Amino acid sequence: MSTDQALRVIRDRVQNPKARFGFILGSGLGSLADLVCGTAIDYAELPGFPHAGVSGHTAKLILGTLEGVDVAILGGREHYYENGRADAMRTPLEVLAALGVETLFLTNACGSFLPEIPPGNLMLIKDHINYSGRSPLIGEPTDKRFVNLTEAYDPAIRKHLKSVASSCDIPLIEGVYAWYSGPNFETPAEIRMLQLLGADAVGMSTVPEVILGRFLGMKCCAVSVVTNMAAGLGNETISHEHTKASAPTGTAKLQTIIRRFLQEQQS
Ligand code: HPA
Repeated sequence: MSTDQALRVIRDRVQNPKARFGFILGSGLGSLADLVCGTAIDYAELPGFPHAGVSGHTAKLILGTLEGVDVAILGGREHYYENGRADAMRTPLEVLAALGVETLFLTNACGSFLPEIPPGNLMLIKDHINYSGRSPLIGEPTDKRFVNLTEAYDPAIRKHLKSVASSCDIPLIEGVYAWYSGPNFETPAEIRMLQLLGADAVGMSTVPEVILGRFLGMKCCAVSVVTNMAAGLGNETISHEHTKASAPTGTAKLQTIIRRFLQEQQS
């Protein structure tokens, strides 16, 4: 319902809107949106889109081209911790799917568990642990809700991203991302537990969007920008201010990878 209304608003603003790649930008990662030639529409104008924002996020949908490829960028996300809704990004993602997005590229900030991926570096998510136990599909009445997440993070895209990163001389190590609900950061004991469970990094987003993305038939990939070592593993004081201040180094690397990745998609 709100998806159709949002699509109407978009069609009033953009002639023949379409996109092959959709992006969701995480905390402090918004500068990718500045590179797109196109039209920006405030979430506030789009029914079903999140309104309140977390600082460090830009609440706009940007439709246009990046490296000659049609893209749709969701400049900010609503997190589960804002209103307790795991499906907060359902309408924006339904809109992306309706615009023709085949591949959903998610970005986030995370706390790393691995000394080999210190702050300022990137982790390519190969799998996740939904430690929140929440699903954005609770209440979905159709059998489509039984989504297979065996290869949720598309293996072919991961392979391609690793080869792009290596050609740009940017380390891109794969790891498992644990979704912890937030908004408080974790305790050192919780991080030790998540390590035992097999996670390599922790963050407060992305997982519900990947579940929705797969539900909507989009291929998904996700890259985390490491802003800090997780609680108990580093010396810096963990804070949202620190997350935003630390994101630019990793973001610059991620932008390089995304631009090269899109250059190779031109057809
Ligand atoms: N924990 C959870 N989310 C985060 C972190 C963290 O350490 N860093 C950036 N986002």
